[in-house]
Amino acid sequence: MKSILDYETVALLDEQDAIEIIDQTKLPGTTQLILLKTGEEIWNAIYLLQVRGAPAIGVTAGFGIYLLMKHSTAADYDVFMKEFHEKKDYLNSSRPTAVNLSWALNRMERKVEQAADHFDLTEIIAIMKKESETIKAEDIDVCRRIGENGLALVKPGDGILTHCNAGQLATCKYGTATAPIYLGHERGYHFHVFCDETRPLLQGARLTAYELQSAGVDTTLICDNMSASVMKQGLVNAVFVGCDRVAANGDTANKIGTSVVATVAARYHVPFYICAPTSTIDMNTKTGDDIHIEQRKPEEVTEMWYKERMAPEGVKVYNPAFDVTDHELISGIVTEFGVLRAPFDKSIREMFDRYKH
Ligand code: MRU
Repeated sequence: MKSILDYETVALLDEQDAIEIIDQTKLPGTTQLILLKTGEEIWNAIYLLQVRGAPAIGVTAGFGIYLLMKHSTAADYDVFMKEFHEKKDYLNSSRPTAVNLSWALNRMERKVEQAADHFDLTEIIAIMKKESETIKAEDIDVCRRIGENGLALVKPGDGILTHCNAGQLATCKYGTATAPIYLGHERGYHFHVFCDETRPLLQGARLTAYELQSAGVDTTLICDNMSASVMKQGLVNAVFVGCDRVAANGDTANKIGTSVVATVAARYHVPFYICAPTSTIDMNTKTGDDIHIEQRKPEEVTEMWYKERMAPEGVKVYNPAFDVTDHELISGIVTEFGVLRAPFDKSIREMFDRYKH
């Protein structure tokens, strides 16, 4: 039988002028593939978390801007760019925290700009298609490399805790935080993985526990308030989580609750690793204080997933989608180029100087 891991998280169906995604709001109960064709459909799918996870959002944005420009009839470069910027800004407004969204759109823009001196519509569209496909292919390669680098930090039989879903469903394959787990699993490491359920949207329960269990990984679901309990018992040898934006000093935004896990891990001397493709490291954001944290609807806390509302009518609700883990709590940032250690401002800068120009 087909497993959830046999589906593509995000696929370009070029002949149909569509992006195909798994509607992640329906998992794990229903695996429904949906097609996104218009700007509004793409925007909504990102906003509503039908497609989510920083790298998957980036890939969707790349395909999205390509499809939205594919049938442009612009007569010259300036007209084309005006249209491009309108669509880019629109897609970019769908979610604020994951930098991969603007990263992918900026990358598409840089490619288009290269054609400024010799405007040829057919050529520009072909370049955009190729670049969007490259973003996806690179995501798979980068995740695998993060997996190899992360795997070197743990040993067979280890207990690993993860928060939210930085899994295959958040990327195009392997995931980031789950990549060491999948590679270790292939190699007979027999990890014991604890998945935080991740209130309020339950990405850990609905997505991570589902995909890891489907892969045959030994998976235990815990509520978010249980991480201290399992760490105190010595059941966790390492924490791997993903990220939505890493600032230049190493402060890291990830799903709400991540900084709680990091604080607990520090208390029990469990190494806490951020798995970060360099596309998620934002050198233009100096510290975590400069990261825009998305606020979401109160109903996600008060009633969503419950059979009936579980909070008094009218109660005030605070519902930030992400929090920032201070760099002092991070043992290492696992990138495709290796594991960065403190001082992170220095190690991140050196990595960018060396590998990214
Ligand atoms: O709100 P979500 O589900 O998009 O949040 C996702 C996360 O916080 C992930 O950990 C992060 O995007 C990394 S995905 C490899």
